[in-house]
Amino acid sequence: MDSSDGRWTMDGGTRYKPLRGARPSIAHRPSSALTPSSAPTYTGRMIRLAAVSDIHFKVGDQQAIAARFDGVREKADLLLLPGDLTDNGTLQEGEQLGRELSRLGIPVLGVLGNHDFASRMHAELIRVLGGAGISVLDGETAEFAFRGETVGVIGTRGFRGGFDGQALSETSEPEVEVWVATAGAEADKIERDLERLCTHYRTVITHYSPIRATVEGEHPETVPFYGSSRLCKPIDRLGADLVVHGHSHHGTHRGATPRGIPVYNVAARLLDAPFIIIELSK
Ligand SMILES: [Fe+2]
Ligand SMILES: [Fe+2]
Repeated sequence: MDSSDGRWTMDGGTRYKPLRGARPSIAHRPSSALTPSSAPTYTGRMIRLAAVSDIHFKVGDQQAIAARFDGVREKADLLLLPGDLTDNGTLQEGEQLGRELSRLGIPVLGVLGNHDFASRMHAELIRVLGGAGISVLDGETAEFAFRGETVGVIGTRGFRGGFDGQALSETSEPEVEVWVATAGAEADKIERDLERLCTHYRTVITHYSPIRATVEGEHPETVPFYGSSRLCKPIDRLGADLVVHGHSHHGTHRGATPRGIPVYNVAARLLDAPFIIIELSK
């Protein structure tokens, strides 16, 4: 099925292909520091990313995780989890989730969501998941090589604050200034990483949305709490192949930045499958 604006094709209900020309033209230099990927079972020609967010893992959910990701290794090269990995941000949740994800046999990359901060153990949570081989990015990048092509993933949580002309910008009160500065700092991480990442494909994962379109469906009064346009500015200025985010459980699955970069809201509740597959092709 073709999207109404012609930017995507949809195949089999859960697979999307950003079409040629959907991204700004960016001159990529060859990367010199690639991390060899673990050998995936999937051997198709195109690079495939599996993605789902907001799984909100709770203690005892191991079987649900195993069922959700059954077969992912045969379908994708990488698994992206853009935040709300856990429901309460506890280390026990992190340990159990990490153990299950480590059995999938596929590289797993994520970012923290607001729920992962709920126990104020987020730094330890990153460490626990990292110990299980799950890379939780906080302004960092990860690079992989698959079948002669390179994929870079930029990950950071992002933040709230609203969109476009209605975005929070006032800084007269210190408490408000912290919100504005936090969103700005998250955007700075994306900018810094995009300036240095030179892989063939560049994917940005955030928990909060960089655009309004993919949070449409939430109650209008809460929309500013689902993301920030500040995150979008470096993405459109420096270019990326796609953005994957979560947090907006009642939002809209697909949108695009003003420059036409595809944005996918992959909150589990929005999907009609355990995860989506995004195919990368030039
Ligand atoms: Fe969530
Ligand atoms: Fe969230």
